[in-house]
Amino acid sequence: MKSIAELGDLRGKRVLVRSDLNVPLDGSTITDDGRIRASVPTITALAEAGARVIVCAHLGRPKGAPEEKYSLAPVAARLGELLGADVTFATDTVGESARAAVDAAQDGDVVLLENLRFNAGETAKSADERAEFAGRLAGLADVFVSDGFGVVHREQASVFDVARLLPSAVGGLVETEVGVLRRLTTDPERPYAVVLGGAKVSDKLAVIDNLIQTADRLLIGGGMVFTFLKAQGHEVGRSLLEQDQVEAVSGYLTQAQERGVEIVLPVDVVAATEFSADADHEVVGVDAIPADRLGLDIGPRSAELFAEKLADCRTVFWNGPMGAFEMAPYAAGTQALAAALVDVTSSGGLTVVGGGDSAAAVRQLGFTDDQFGHISTGGGASLEYLEGKDLPGLTVLDES
Ligand code: 3PG
Ligand code: MG
Repeated sequence: MKSIAELGDLRGKRVLVRSDLNVPLDGSTITDDGRIRASVPTITALAEAGARVIVCAHLGRPKGAPEEKYSLAPVAARLGELLGADVTFATDTVGESARAAVDAAQDGDVVLLENLRFNAGETAKSADERAEFAGRLAGLADVFVSDGFGVVHREQASVFDVARLLPSAVGGLVETEVGVLRRLTTDPERPYAVVLGGAKVSDKLAVIDNLIQTADRLLIGGGMVFTFLKAQGHEVGRSLLEQDQVEAVSGYLTQAQERGVEIVLPVDVVAATEFSADADHEVVGVDAIPADRLGLDIGPRSAELFAEKLADCRTVFWNGPMGAFEMAPYAAGTQALAAALVDVTSSGGLTVVGGGDSAAAVRQLGFTDDQFGHISTGGGASLEYLEGKDLPGLTVLDES
């Protein structure tokens, strides 16, 4: 894998940069700009090297055609503010507007292309269709820099195929992210705990399978925990439950026990009558979840237990909120968990918050980036790395 320095003198070169600028929006207001901020250092470094920087990125999951609500226009404005420089926004990705913007760019200028996923070729299953679109992207530039860590697990035109068409290098953000993940997977300092939350256990089975081999403790919260509680014989009322995963989860519980990996589950939950901030809610033991209620956060005794289980850890990876933290009555579990990670950071341990959503959660709850060892910009990507999968966006750079 080449680094940017190995691309040689970039003055006057057109450099296509794949960034991950997929930020949460409320209308056209960016609610967490973490991914944009994380993308700035590479873009700045290229502009300062005299390159004509052409940034490409996706937003959301449009279906291969333009849709106003997925436009990167608000992101272009924010990127300009953070760079302290004008960003020319092309209103298409590889069409007339893009070509005109690239042709007009001077050394050190930054162009942002409209959402890659407004083009069916970006995410096409067919390698030929992707290659055709990648060819049009590559036609805009002389070299390619892959810096969108959050998408390196996607075999998509701007991540994978384009790297086969241009001299390519890895950007600094991807280098940093992969460096941290390597510390988690290569001889992590122990005890090593992983905290998993979020809604669906089916998304996390592969990583659980792998973590049972590598971590010392696995703490589980969020919506996915009810499938674990069910596997342990508890009734979970109307909580999120993936009935078809109960058996797989039971298998992991047994395997963990055999391997001496401690699986820590909540002992109490906040049970509400509805998925709503105004719903009546109460703390109940996990063996007393009322049939007509659903669990929306881990309870206070669980938060204490989780903090205890993290207190002596030297390495902690956390992905996924402990509850429906967007609603104040169900934020305490996620808040407490974040605070427990901050304590580990203060005592010199390595703490990693994995993923766009978890990162946005900790910032929304008032924590700052420097309270953690590393806040990853990629949830899916970091989980797939921890699963031990090959990530297409990285393997393709090894070839080039
Ligand atoms: C993310 O938000 O996880 C990344 O930007 C990747 O987006 P995707 O899951 O839609 O491919
Ligand atoms: Mg995602």
